[in-house]
Amino acid sequence: MKAKSILFLAFVCIVAVSCDQVGNKPTSLKEAYADSFKMGCAISPMTISGRNPEAQELLEKHFNAISPDNAMKPESLHPGPDVWNFGPADAYVDYGKAHGMFVLGHTLCWHNQTPDFFWTRPDGTPKSREELVETLRSYIETVVTHFAGRVDAWDVVNEIVAEDGGFRDLGWVHAFGGDGYEVAKLAFQFANEYAPEGTEFYYNEFNVWRPSKLEGVVNLVRRLRADGLKVDGVGIQAHWGLNYPKNEYIEEAIDQLAELGVKVMITELDVDVLPISKEGQVIGRSLQDPQYQLEEFEEFLDPYKEGLPAEVEDQLAARYEELFRIFYNHRDQIDRVTFWGLHDGASWKNGSPIPRRTNYPLLFNRDLTPHKALDAVLTIPEPPKAEQ
Ligand code: GLA
Repeated sequence: MKAKSILFLAFVCIVAVSCDQVGNKPTSLKEAYADSFKMGCAISPMTISGRNPEAQELLEKHFNAISPDNAMKPESLHPGPDVWNFGPADAYVDYGKAHGMFVLGHTLCWHNQTPDFFWTRPDGTPKSREELVETLRSYIETVVTHFAGRVDAWDVVNEIVAEDGGFRDLGWVHAFGGDGYEVAKLAFQFANEYAPEGTEFYYNEFNVWRPSKLEGVVNLVRRLRADGLKVDGVGIQAHWGLNYPKNEYIEEAIDQLAELGVKVMITELDVDVLPISKEGQVIGRSLQDPQYQLEEFEEFLDPYKEGLPAEVEDQLAARYEELFRIFYNHRDQIDRVTFWGLHDGASWKNGSPIPRRTNYPLLFNRDLTPHKALDAVLTIPEPPKAEQ
């Protein structure tokens, strides 16, 4: 009888302990995905300024990798021919290191947010080829040397491949003329040359899911490597929507990039819930035209100003769930998943492609409360075997 009671008590204890472990699923993204991939977030200097301790606490609870949203873009670091502004980027890097986070440098060579003086002389005439090479070389040398040993990896080139798989005739490529490959090659060459050993070098791109563009990105990485350059990873920017891109395209992109033997990263994740972009990412600036802010468009284009309706909240959770199921199933190929912003209020999607709208693309609301999607994402990883 006594032995039976002891046995029963032991059984109750075992059940209670394992229920507690199963019930105790991680409440933090970085813990939930600790065995899968790094969990990253793009931040602004404001987030870590100390003026918003709640946001900072949220960041530290959920993320172990950071990206600078704007602080390390050429227009921020080098706004004028004789002006360098390292302050906000230094604060970002120091914060990441102090908190043991993976620190990304973003981005060295891009057509956007790069002042014209990079490509033109003071009198407005275009720089010669030699002048352009020297501008790119000295910019990359100055920047990667400044952050040497404090930045874990650089997005060396951003968005140079066109939707059809060729190169975009913009910025550096436009200034150089000819095949855009030369620009990409020089940028990787200078990064390889000046960054300390151990620094990783990435190519970062949007719409990589599009088969023609994926082919262009794969070819670019192959070519760079054939030329002896170290390319450690490819970032799949994930500015996606509730119903695009198709999941099979996403999986195909992850598989093809992983086959190259590079690290695959989901680098700029957000899910647009607003009309127009729901059907696909809008490229170009046409919807920035002031006519789209006229009263007659407002109701249709900016429908959730007063809050996200429950059914869209559910759709957002379902979309995040299917995306993270894909990422989790491909966790052996994926190195990092980074959200482009901490909370909805900090998202660029409030201003793009149409200015001044109220969007809900991230896992946290403007007041830092979680969307339903957070729980959906936290629920996906299986608990470690020992705890099952
Ligand atoms: C691109 C860039 C990012 C950011 C987003 C939109 O994807 O890589 O740095 O500017 O656009 O904000």
